[in-house]
Amino acid sequence: MTPHLLIRGGTPLTGEVWIDGMKNAALPILFALLLVREEVTLEGLPPVTDIETTLQILCKMGARLERISPTAIRIHTKNTDPDAVPLKWTTELRASSYLLGASLGRFGRAATGIPGGCDFGTRPLDQHFRLLETLGATVEQEHGILRATAPGGLHGKNVRLDFPSVGATVNGILAATLANGMTVIENAAREPHIVDLADFLNACGAEIVGAGTSSIRIRGVSKLHGTRYRIVPDMIEAGTYLCAVSATGGKMRLCGVCPEHLGAILPPLRKMGATITVSENHLTLERSGSLYGTVLETAPYPGFPTDMQPQFAPLLCMARGGGRIYERVWKKRFQYTKELEKMGANILLSNDFADFRGGDRLVGTQIHATDLRGGAAMLIAGLCAEGTTELCDVRHLERGYPNFVAKLTALGADISYVQN
Ligand code: EPU
Repeated sequence: MTPHLLIRGGTPLTGEVWIDGMKNAALPILFALLLVREEVTLEGLPPVTDIETTLQILCKMGARLERISPTAIRIHTKNTDPDAVPLKWTTELRASSYLLGASLGRFGRAATGIPGGCDFGTRPLDQHFRLLETLGATVEQEHGILRATAPGGLHGKNVRLDFPSVGATVNGILAATLANGMTVIENAAREPHIVDLADFLNACGAEIVGAGTSSIRIRGVSKLHGTRYRIVPDMIEAGTYLCAVSATGGKMRLCGVCPEHLGAILPPLRKMGATITVSENHLTLERSGSLYGTVLETAPYPGFPTDMQPQFAPLLCMARGGGRIYERVWKKRFQYTKELEKMGANILLSNDFADFRGGDRLVGTQIHATDLRGGAAMLIAGLCAEGTTELCDVRHLERGYPNFVAKLTALGADISYVQN
């Protein structure tokens, strides 16, 4: 039986929420553990299914795992085997592509299933392959399996990405950390999760400079040592709760955040009517007046994140004057709008943008989470809708939002799991 969520909308959210560690930082760091042959303690791991799947993959490969708490582990990858990768599980995650860089770096060979994750149409890996091949690897795809080898070892080179791909930048860092010589990745992704991966590896003895800029220099080292490391807070989880309270109205204190990562998310929320005050590691948001429309355009960091655009959509549906979202990163990330239309939203889709008429009354009905962030948008829509919303395919949300039912309930939301 698949659990659904029942959301009875219309309650303004009020209270305090603690933000967990960032899923998209934790995933590359977990695969990076393969490069470290000593014990590592990781804190701030978000308790979500994508992290659990990754831990299971590492354990099947032979990692020794000790759980300290729901968000902390001790792990040792000394006796791991690249031929023991559970290929079926790797197809559940986009981040399993990180096995290529990590396993090549450690063992000189790698195998993984075709990486899965959210369905945004085709999700090519050409930038990953080009980067790994420049460093000396050969990558082949056969019968749904990606195999990479580097019998002559990996050698540092200069590589310029065509697009600042997060995944290709991660794979480049992973492959170059133990390679011979200096690798320079130009037009690299600048997301905070790239910085977190570099900070983690540097804490283990790597020599990586420039993470957070478009040019990352990695001087290969011969080995890494164990460390204790805390994953950075999740800016997308934070942004999602900020959208939720902006949408329902109410007042929230958000704790354990990095406000500097929210530089592109706070201005549109303010423009739409929220009052936000920022302190060192927490912020408060209040929205009691009208919601106003705006125009959003996604871009790689430090631009407005594609992983936040669906969560703004319910606000734009209800806002005076509506608005528009341009999607510049993923071609097919508006599939969730069909579900909003079932609730009464008026949305016009074009090739790379969506127009929201605004002033819509959202009404509860049965809707589906189409993907992780699309599911978050549906959750927010349900919290604002008149009547009861039944949200199906909740597994998408469970991949990336830790304890979201408990966190929303603590804010006063009327939301519960049901089996049917
Ligand atoms: N692209 C290529 N070729 C490549 C790689 C990417 O054409 O070799 C294209 C993609 O098709 C896409 C764009 O470049 O149009 C961006 O892709 P990128 O590689 O940056 O994305 P990713 O690494 O696959 C990560 C996050 C996504 C997030 C994007 C963009 C993880 C595990 N996933 O994906 O997160 O949307 O960066 O910021 O970190 C999510 O958390 O909901 C999520 C989808």
